[in-house]
Amino acid sequence: MWLEAAPARWRRTGRHALGGVALVLATACSGEQSALAPAGEEAASLATLFWWMLAGAAVIWLLVMGAAVYATKISPGRHDEALASRLLVVGGIAFPTVALALLLAYGLSLMGGVRAAGDGLRIHVAGEQWWWRVAYDRGGAQEAIPSANEVRLPVGQRVEILLSSPDVIHSFWIPPLAGKVDMIPGRVNRLVVEATEAGEFRGACAEYCGTSHALMAFKAITMEPADFETWLEREAGTAESVPAGGPAARGAALFRKTGCGGCHAVRGTAANGTIGPDLTHLASRRSLAAGILPMTEEALQDWIARTHEIKPDARMPSFGALPEEDIASIVAFLWTLK
Ligand code: CUA
Repeated sequence: MWLEAAPARWRRTGRHALGGVALVLATACSGEQSALAPAGEEAASLATLFWWMLAGAAVIWLLVMGAAVYATKISPGRHDEALASRLLVVGGIAFPTVALALLLAYGLSLMGGVRAAGDGLRIHVAGEQWWWRVAYDRGGAQEAIPSANEVRLPVGQRVEILLSSPDVIHSFWIPPLAGKVDMIPGRVNRLVVEATEAGEFRGACAEYCGTSHALMAFKAITMEPADFETWLEREAGTAESVPAGGPAARGAALFRKTGCGGCHAVRGTAANGTIGPDLTHLASRRSLAAGILPMTEEALQDWIARTHEIKPDARMPSFGALPEEDIASIVAFLWTLK
């Protein structure tokens, strides 16, 4: 009975496997997080390198397979020893040496451009468990602007991103913009990025860094230079003052009383903690909890009440013990932080 059913099962398995492959291919090409849909100079170089290597590998694979098939078809003794030796020397030593040397030279020639920095904006990004500490450094005497969990970049400008970590190794990766670079405690790694088109992309941590490694993502938003300057100017400013009455005012008082300001800063208020993300312009970010929730009031409410269910082992405690109404007031306050 099982045998009768087997062919149908195999057909089904085959269809599922094909469906899976198609799904993987479709997601890989959707752009937001694809290294093969470049929106930056560095990613474009890497994509070109990838296609050249893929084409080279395909040609070599066909040659080897052709030789293997040929070898199974001919009768023994068809070719003499001298030809076999020549084939070994040319195909086994000379060809791989030349092909690999050419690929290496091509790969190295791309690296110079990838590393060259601009002289404008620098962005400091530190990998935390499990979120991203971001600061925009405009150079000169101006103070760096703290932010978190979102990286914004001007189109057409080379921006140097300085990567670090206070405790464990993370890896910073925005596939459509550039290759990944590790964030290693005790040192600062450089990544230079030049976005070529405006858009919204998804970055992620690409190195296992603990329980919630897979929940450590962020938005990378590339903007036209004028829009970027306007945004940066606003990001540099302090929080707007909270209305004198209503849920937001109550929430601001609760935020203070509950001790949120011990870990979070809201510039322009007494909250000046630096352990957790800066919340000064929280509600203007496009995602919450390091790229894993949408920025909505419902998601904020959920995040505060069930932090550890959403992100296991996060340093922020869950505040589910607070009355729902209090959390709603805190959310009303946070929602004013545009
Ligand atoms: Cu941070 Cu993985």
